[in-house]
Amino acid sequence: MKTLAEVFKEVLREKGIESVGTLSKRFRKSKNKLQDMAVEIVHGKGAIFKVPEKTAVAWDLEGRRVDGSHYAYAPLCMRDKFEMAVSPEELRAKLPEWPYFIIDLYHWNRHTQKEKGKICLQITQSYGLLRDYFTGSELAVTWASEEFRRMFHGPLNRITVYGGSTAEFLKERGIDEVVLLDPWADELLSEKDFHVRAFVIGGIVDTGGEKKLTPRIGEELEKAGINVRRRKITLRGDIVGVPDRINRIMGIILKMMVEGKSMDEAVYEMQEPLHARWRLRKELPKRAIRYRVDGRDYRVVEKELFEYYSNWLKIRWEDFVKVLRELDLIALERRRIHHLNKISTARLIRGKLYRVLLLKKAAMLCYNC
Ligand SMILES: C[S@@+](CC[C@H](N)C(=O)[O-])C[C@H]1O[C@@H](n2cnc3c(N)ncnc32)[C@H](O)[C@@H]1O
Repeated sequence: MKTLAEVFKEVLREKGIESVGTLSKRFRKSKNKLQDMAVEIVHGKGAIFKVPEKTAVAWDLEGRRVDGSHYAYAPLCMRDKFEMAVSPEELRAKLPEWPYFIIDLYHWNRHTQKEKGKICLQITQSYGLLRDYFTGSELAVTWASEEFRRMFHGPLNRITVYGGSTAEFLKERGIDEVVLLDPWADELLSEKDFHVRAFVIGGIVDTGGEKKLTPRIGEELEKAGINVRRRKITLRGDIVGVPDRINRIMGIILKMMVEGKSMDEAVYEMQEPLHARWRLRKELPKRAIRYRVDGRDYRVVEKELFEYYSNWLKIRWEDFVKVLRELDLIALERRRIHHLNKISTARLIRGKLYRVLLLKKAAMLCYNC
């Protein structure tokens, strides 16, 4: 799927424009200058003008710095001064139909004031992500109350805020099928789902309360006659370790859909050590070897597992050690484990396999204490 920057480049190329500058200091620090310029143009804030003298700085269509250009981004108020080369209307006319990303606030009133604040922040961050790929206006918030409008500090005029239900919003736009991102779904989100015209994400932050709210959003939609594809996101087959914040779920979809990343890669890129530790807590006990040394029990894992897990979990050494401590596990180098295995005997104790050492070898285990 094309990004806005790619569409913008095509428009510039069609006009024989190979580089653009700017008449202000804007965009100089931006990482994706063409994308950021295009967003402003689409929102009617500026345009590309032909300027008589070359700009001081400019970038080619790959974003590389060049000496200057006779084409520059400038605010729309410059239209009387310079000849317009790409107008907002022209760029808008070339935009493909990108899908809606709907944040469904059906469960808004189940949240405390603090949680409502978190939802608003995650919606603002979702806008920030979408505008890195498309225009940002693909973001829609449904069941949006007056309270939401008051509490939301993001760009209200650049997103779609809809007071009615998600089903009404969809029907008004002739959309009869959606993908609902749902951790409780049976099926995985995949390429086959990327042609839908709308993705729905629950405007929910996890509270101490009820944990299974997303499926209800799907039931509401189905009752209203919308075909709902319920899809989950997993990391190596398990939802544990998938960052569940609204904006991060949106980031995973975008990385898969626009950048062509696999689900595991996309999850890794959107993960924070916090989410990675959730998963590590589940993984490490599966790798533990039980030892009984002079009557005391130890659970040991290979120290080298850090390398293995850090390939697919965003963990640093300190996260690995933190989880070891929480789970009361000991990490030993593989060669030491081999040695311990050689000098111990395997025994079943209360249905569990232990390696028993009768010698005073405890010192060897005090490796990461
Ligand atoms: C904090 S989660 C809410 C999960 C919550 N336990 C519930 O009631 O379903 C917010 C939203 O992110 C999306 N989400 C979170 N984790 C997901 C996953 N692993 N797969 C698909 N969607 C997910 C869902 O749309 C969900 O409504």
